[in-house]
Amino acid sequence: MKSKYQFAGTKENYEDYSSGRVVYGAAGATNFPVRLSSEVFQQCAHYLKTKGNVGPYKLYDPFCGVAYSLTVIGFLHGAEIESISGSDSDSRMLEFAQKNLSLLTTTGLSKRIEELKRFVQEYNKDSHKEALESAYRLQSKIRSFQTGRIQSFQFNAVSDEEFPESLPRVDMVITDLPYGELAQWEVSGTEESYVERFLEKLRRRLGLISVTAIIHDKKQPISHSGYKAVRSFALGKRRIVLLESERNSAR
Ligand SMILES: C[S@@+](CC[C@H](N)C(=O)[O-])C[C@H]1O[C@@H](n2cnc3c(N)ncnc32)[C@H](O)[C@@H]1O
Repeated sequence: MKSKYQFAGTKENYEDYSSGRVVYGAAGATNFPVRLSSEVFQQCAHYLKTKGNVGPYKLYDPFCGVAYSLTVIGFLHGAEIESISGSDSDSRMLEFAQKNLSLLTTTGLSKRIEELKRFVQEYNKDSHKEALESAYRLQSKIRSFQTGRIQSFQFNAVSDEEFPESLPRVDMVITDLPYGELAQWEVSGTEESYVERFLEKLRRRLGLISVTAIIHDKKQPISHSGYKAVRSFALGKRRIVLLESERNSAR
């Protein structure tokens, strides 16, 4: 199993994207490393290009939490992305997800800048001043998304219900499965069946040439007869598997 970063360099400073700085964090939300998000996105884009899908991509995270990873990917790779969708079963997470994804729009980021300015005036804290500097830096490089190109919605990804029609057929799914104490599966039933159930439903929302990247811990077997693993690797404590649906492999 390969375990090296191929695309996301070590030299990049990811400080501006830290959780709780410009991007909102929430109590109980998991923090996903920025460099890893960037690496996974770039591996997916590389795979899709080899299959003839040169983008821009419709990206979806069905277990998006506060949409931290999605927002960071939007900041870092917005030029390659057509739309971003995120869903989660937890309405509290979604409040933050909505706020975070709005940072990818000119209006949303300007609002955040105004909020940080108020915090600096009221509290005169270094952390707020640094966050404001980061927000200005992000503003100078943002590729603003139109509001209709980003969406977040409440949805149980392993229920019997189909994904909503408002979700476009997506090219790229990047998702960090619930694990550990912070992010439990919100469903009853056996754990082994969750991933399979979710992958079965997801197949019907995938575009013609797509890739699904699942980040998981080693206890969770990731398999489904409708998908083939095209790459799997470990980075730090996480395992990542890139799956192609059978429609891709038939090409
Ligand atoms: C590991 S966290 C994802 C964190 C996310 N990548 C981020 O950057 O904020 C997993 C998420 O799965 C959600 N979740 C758990 N069971 C779910 C289900 N059945 N359907 C949809 N989301 C679920 C949890 O609420 C949690 O937010």
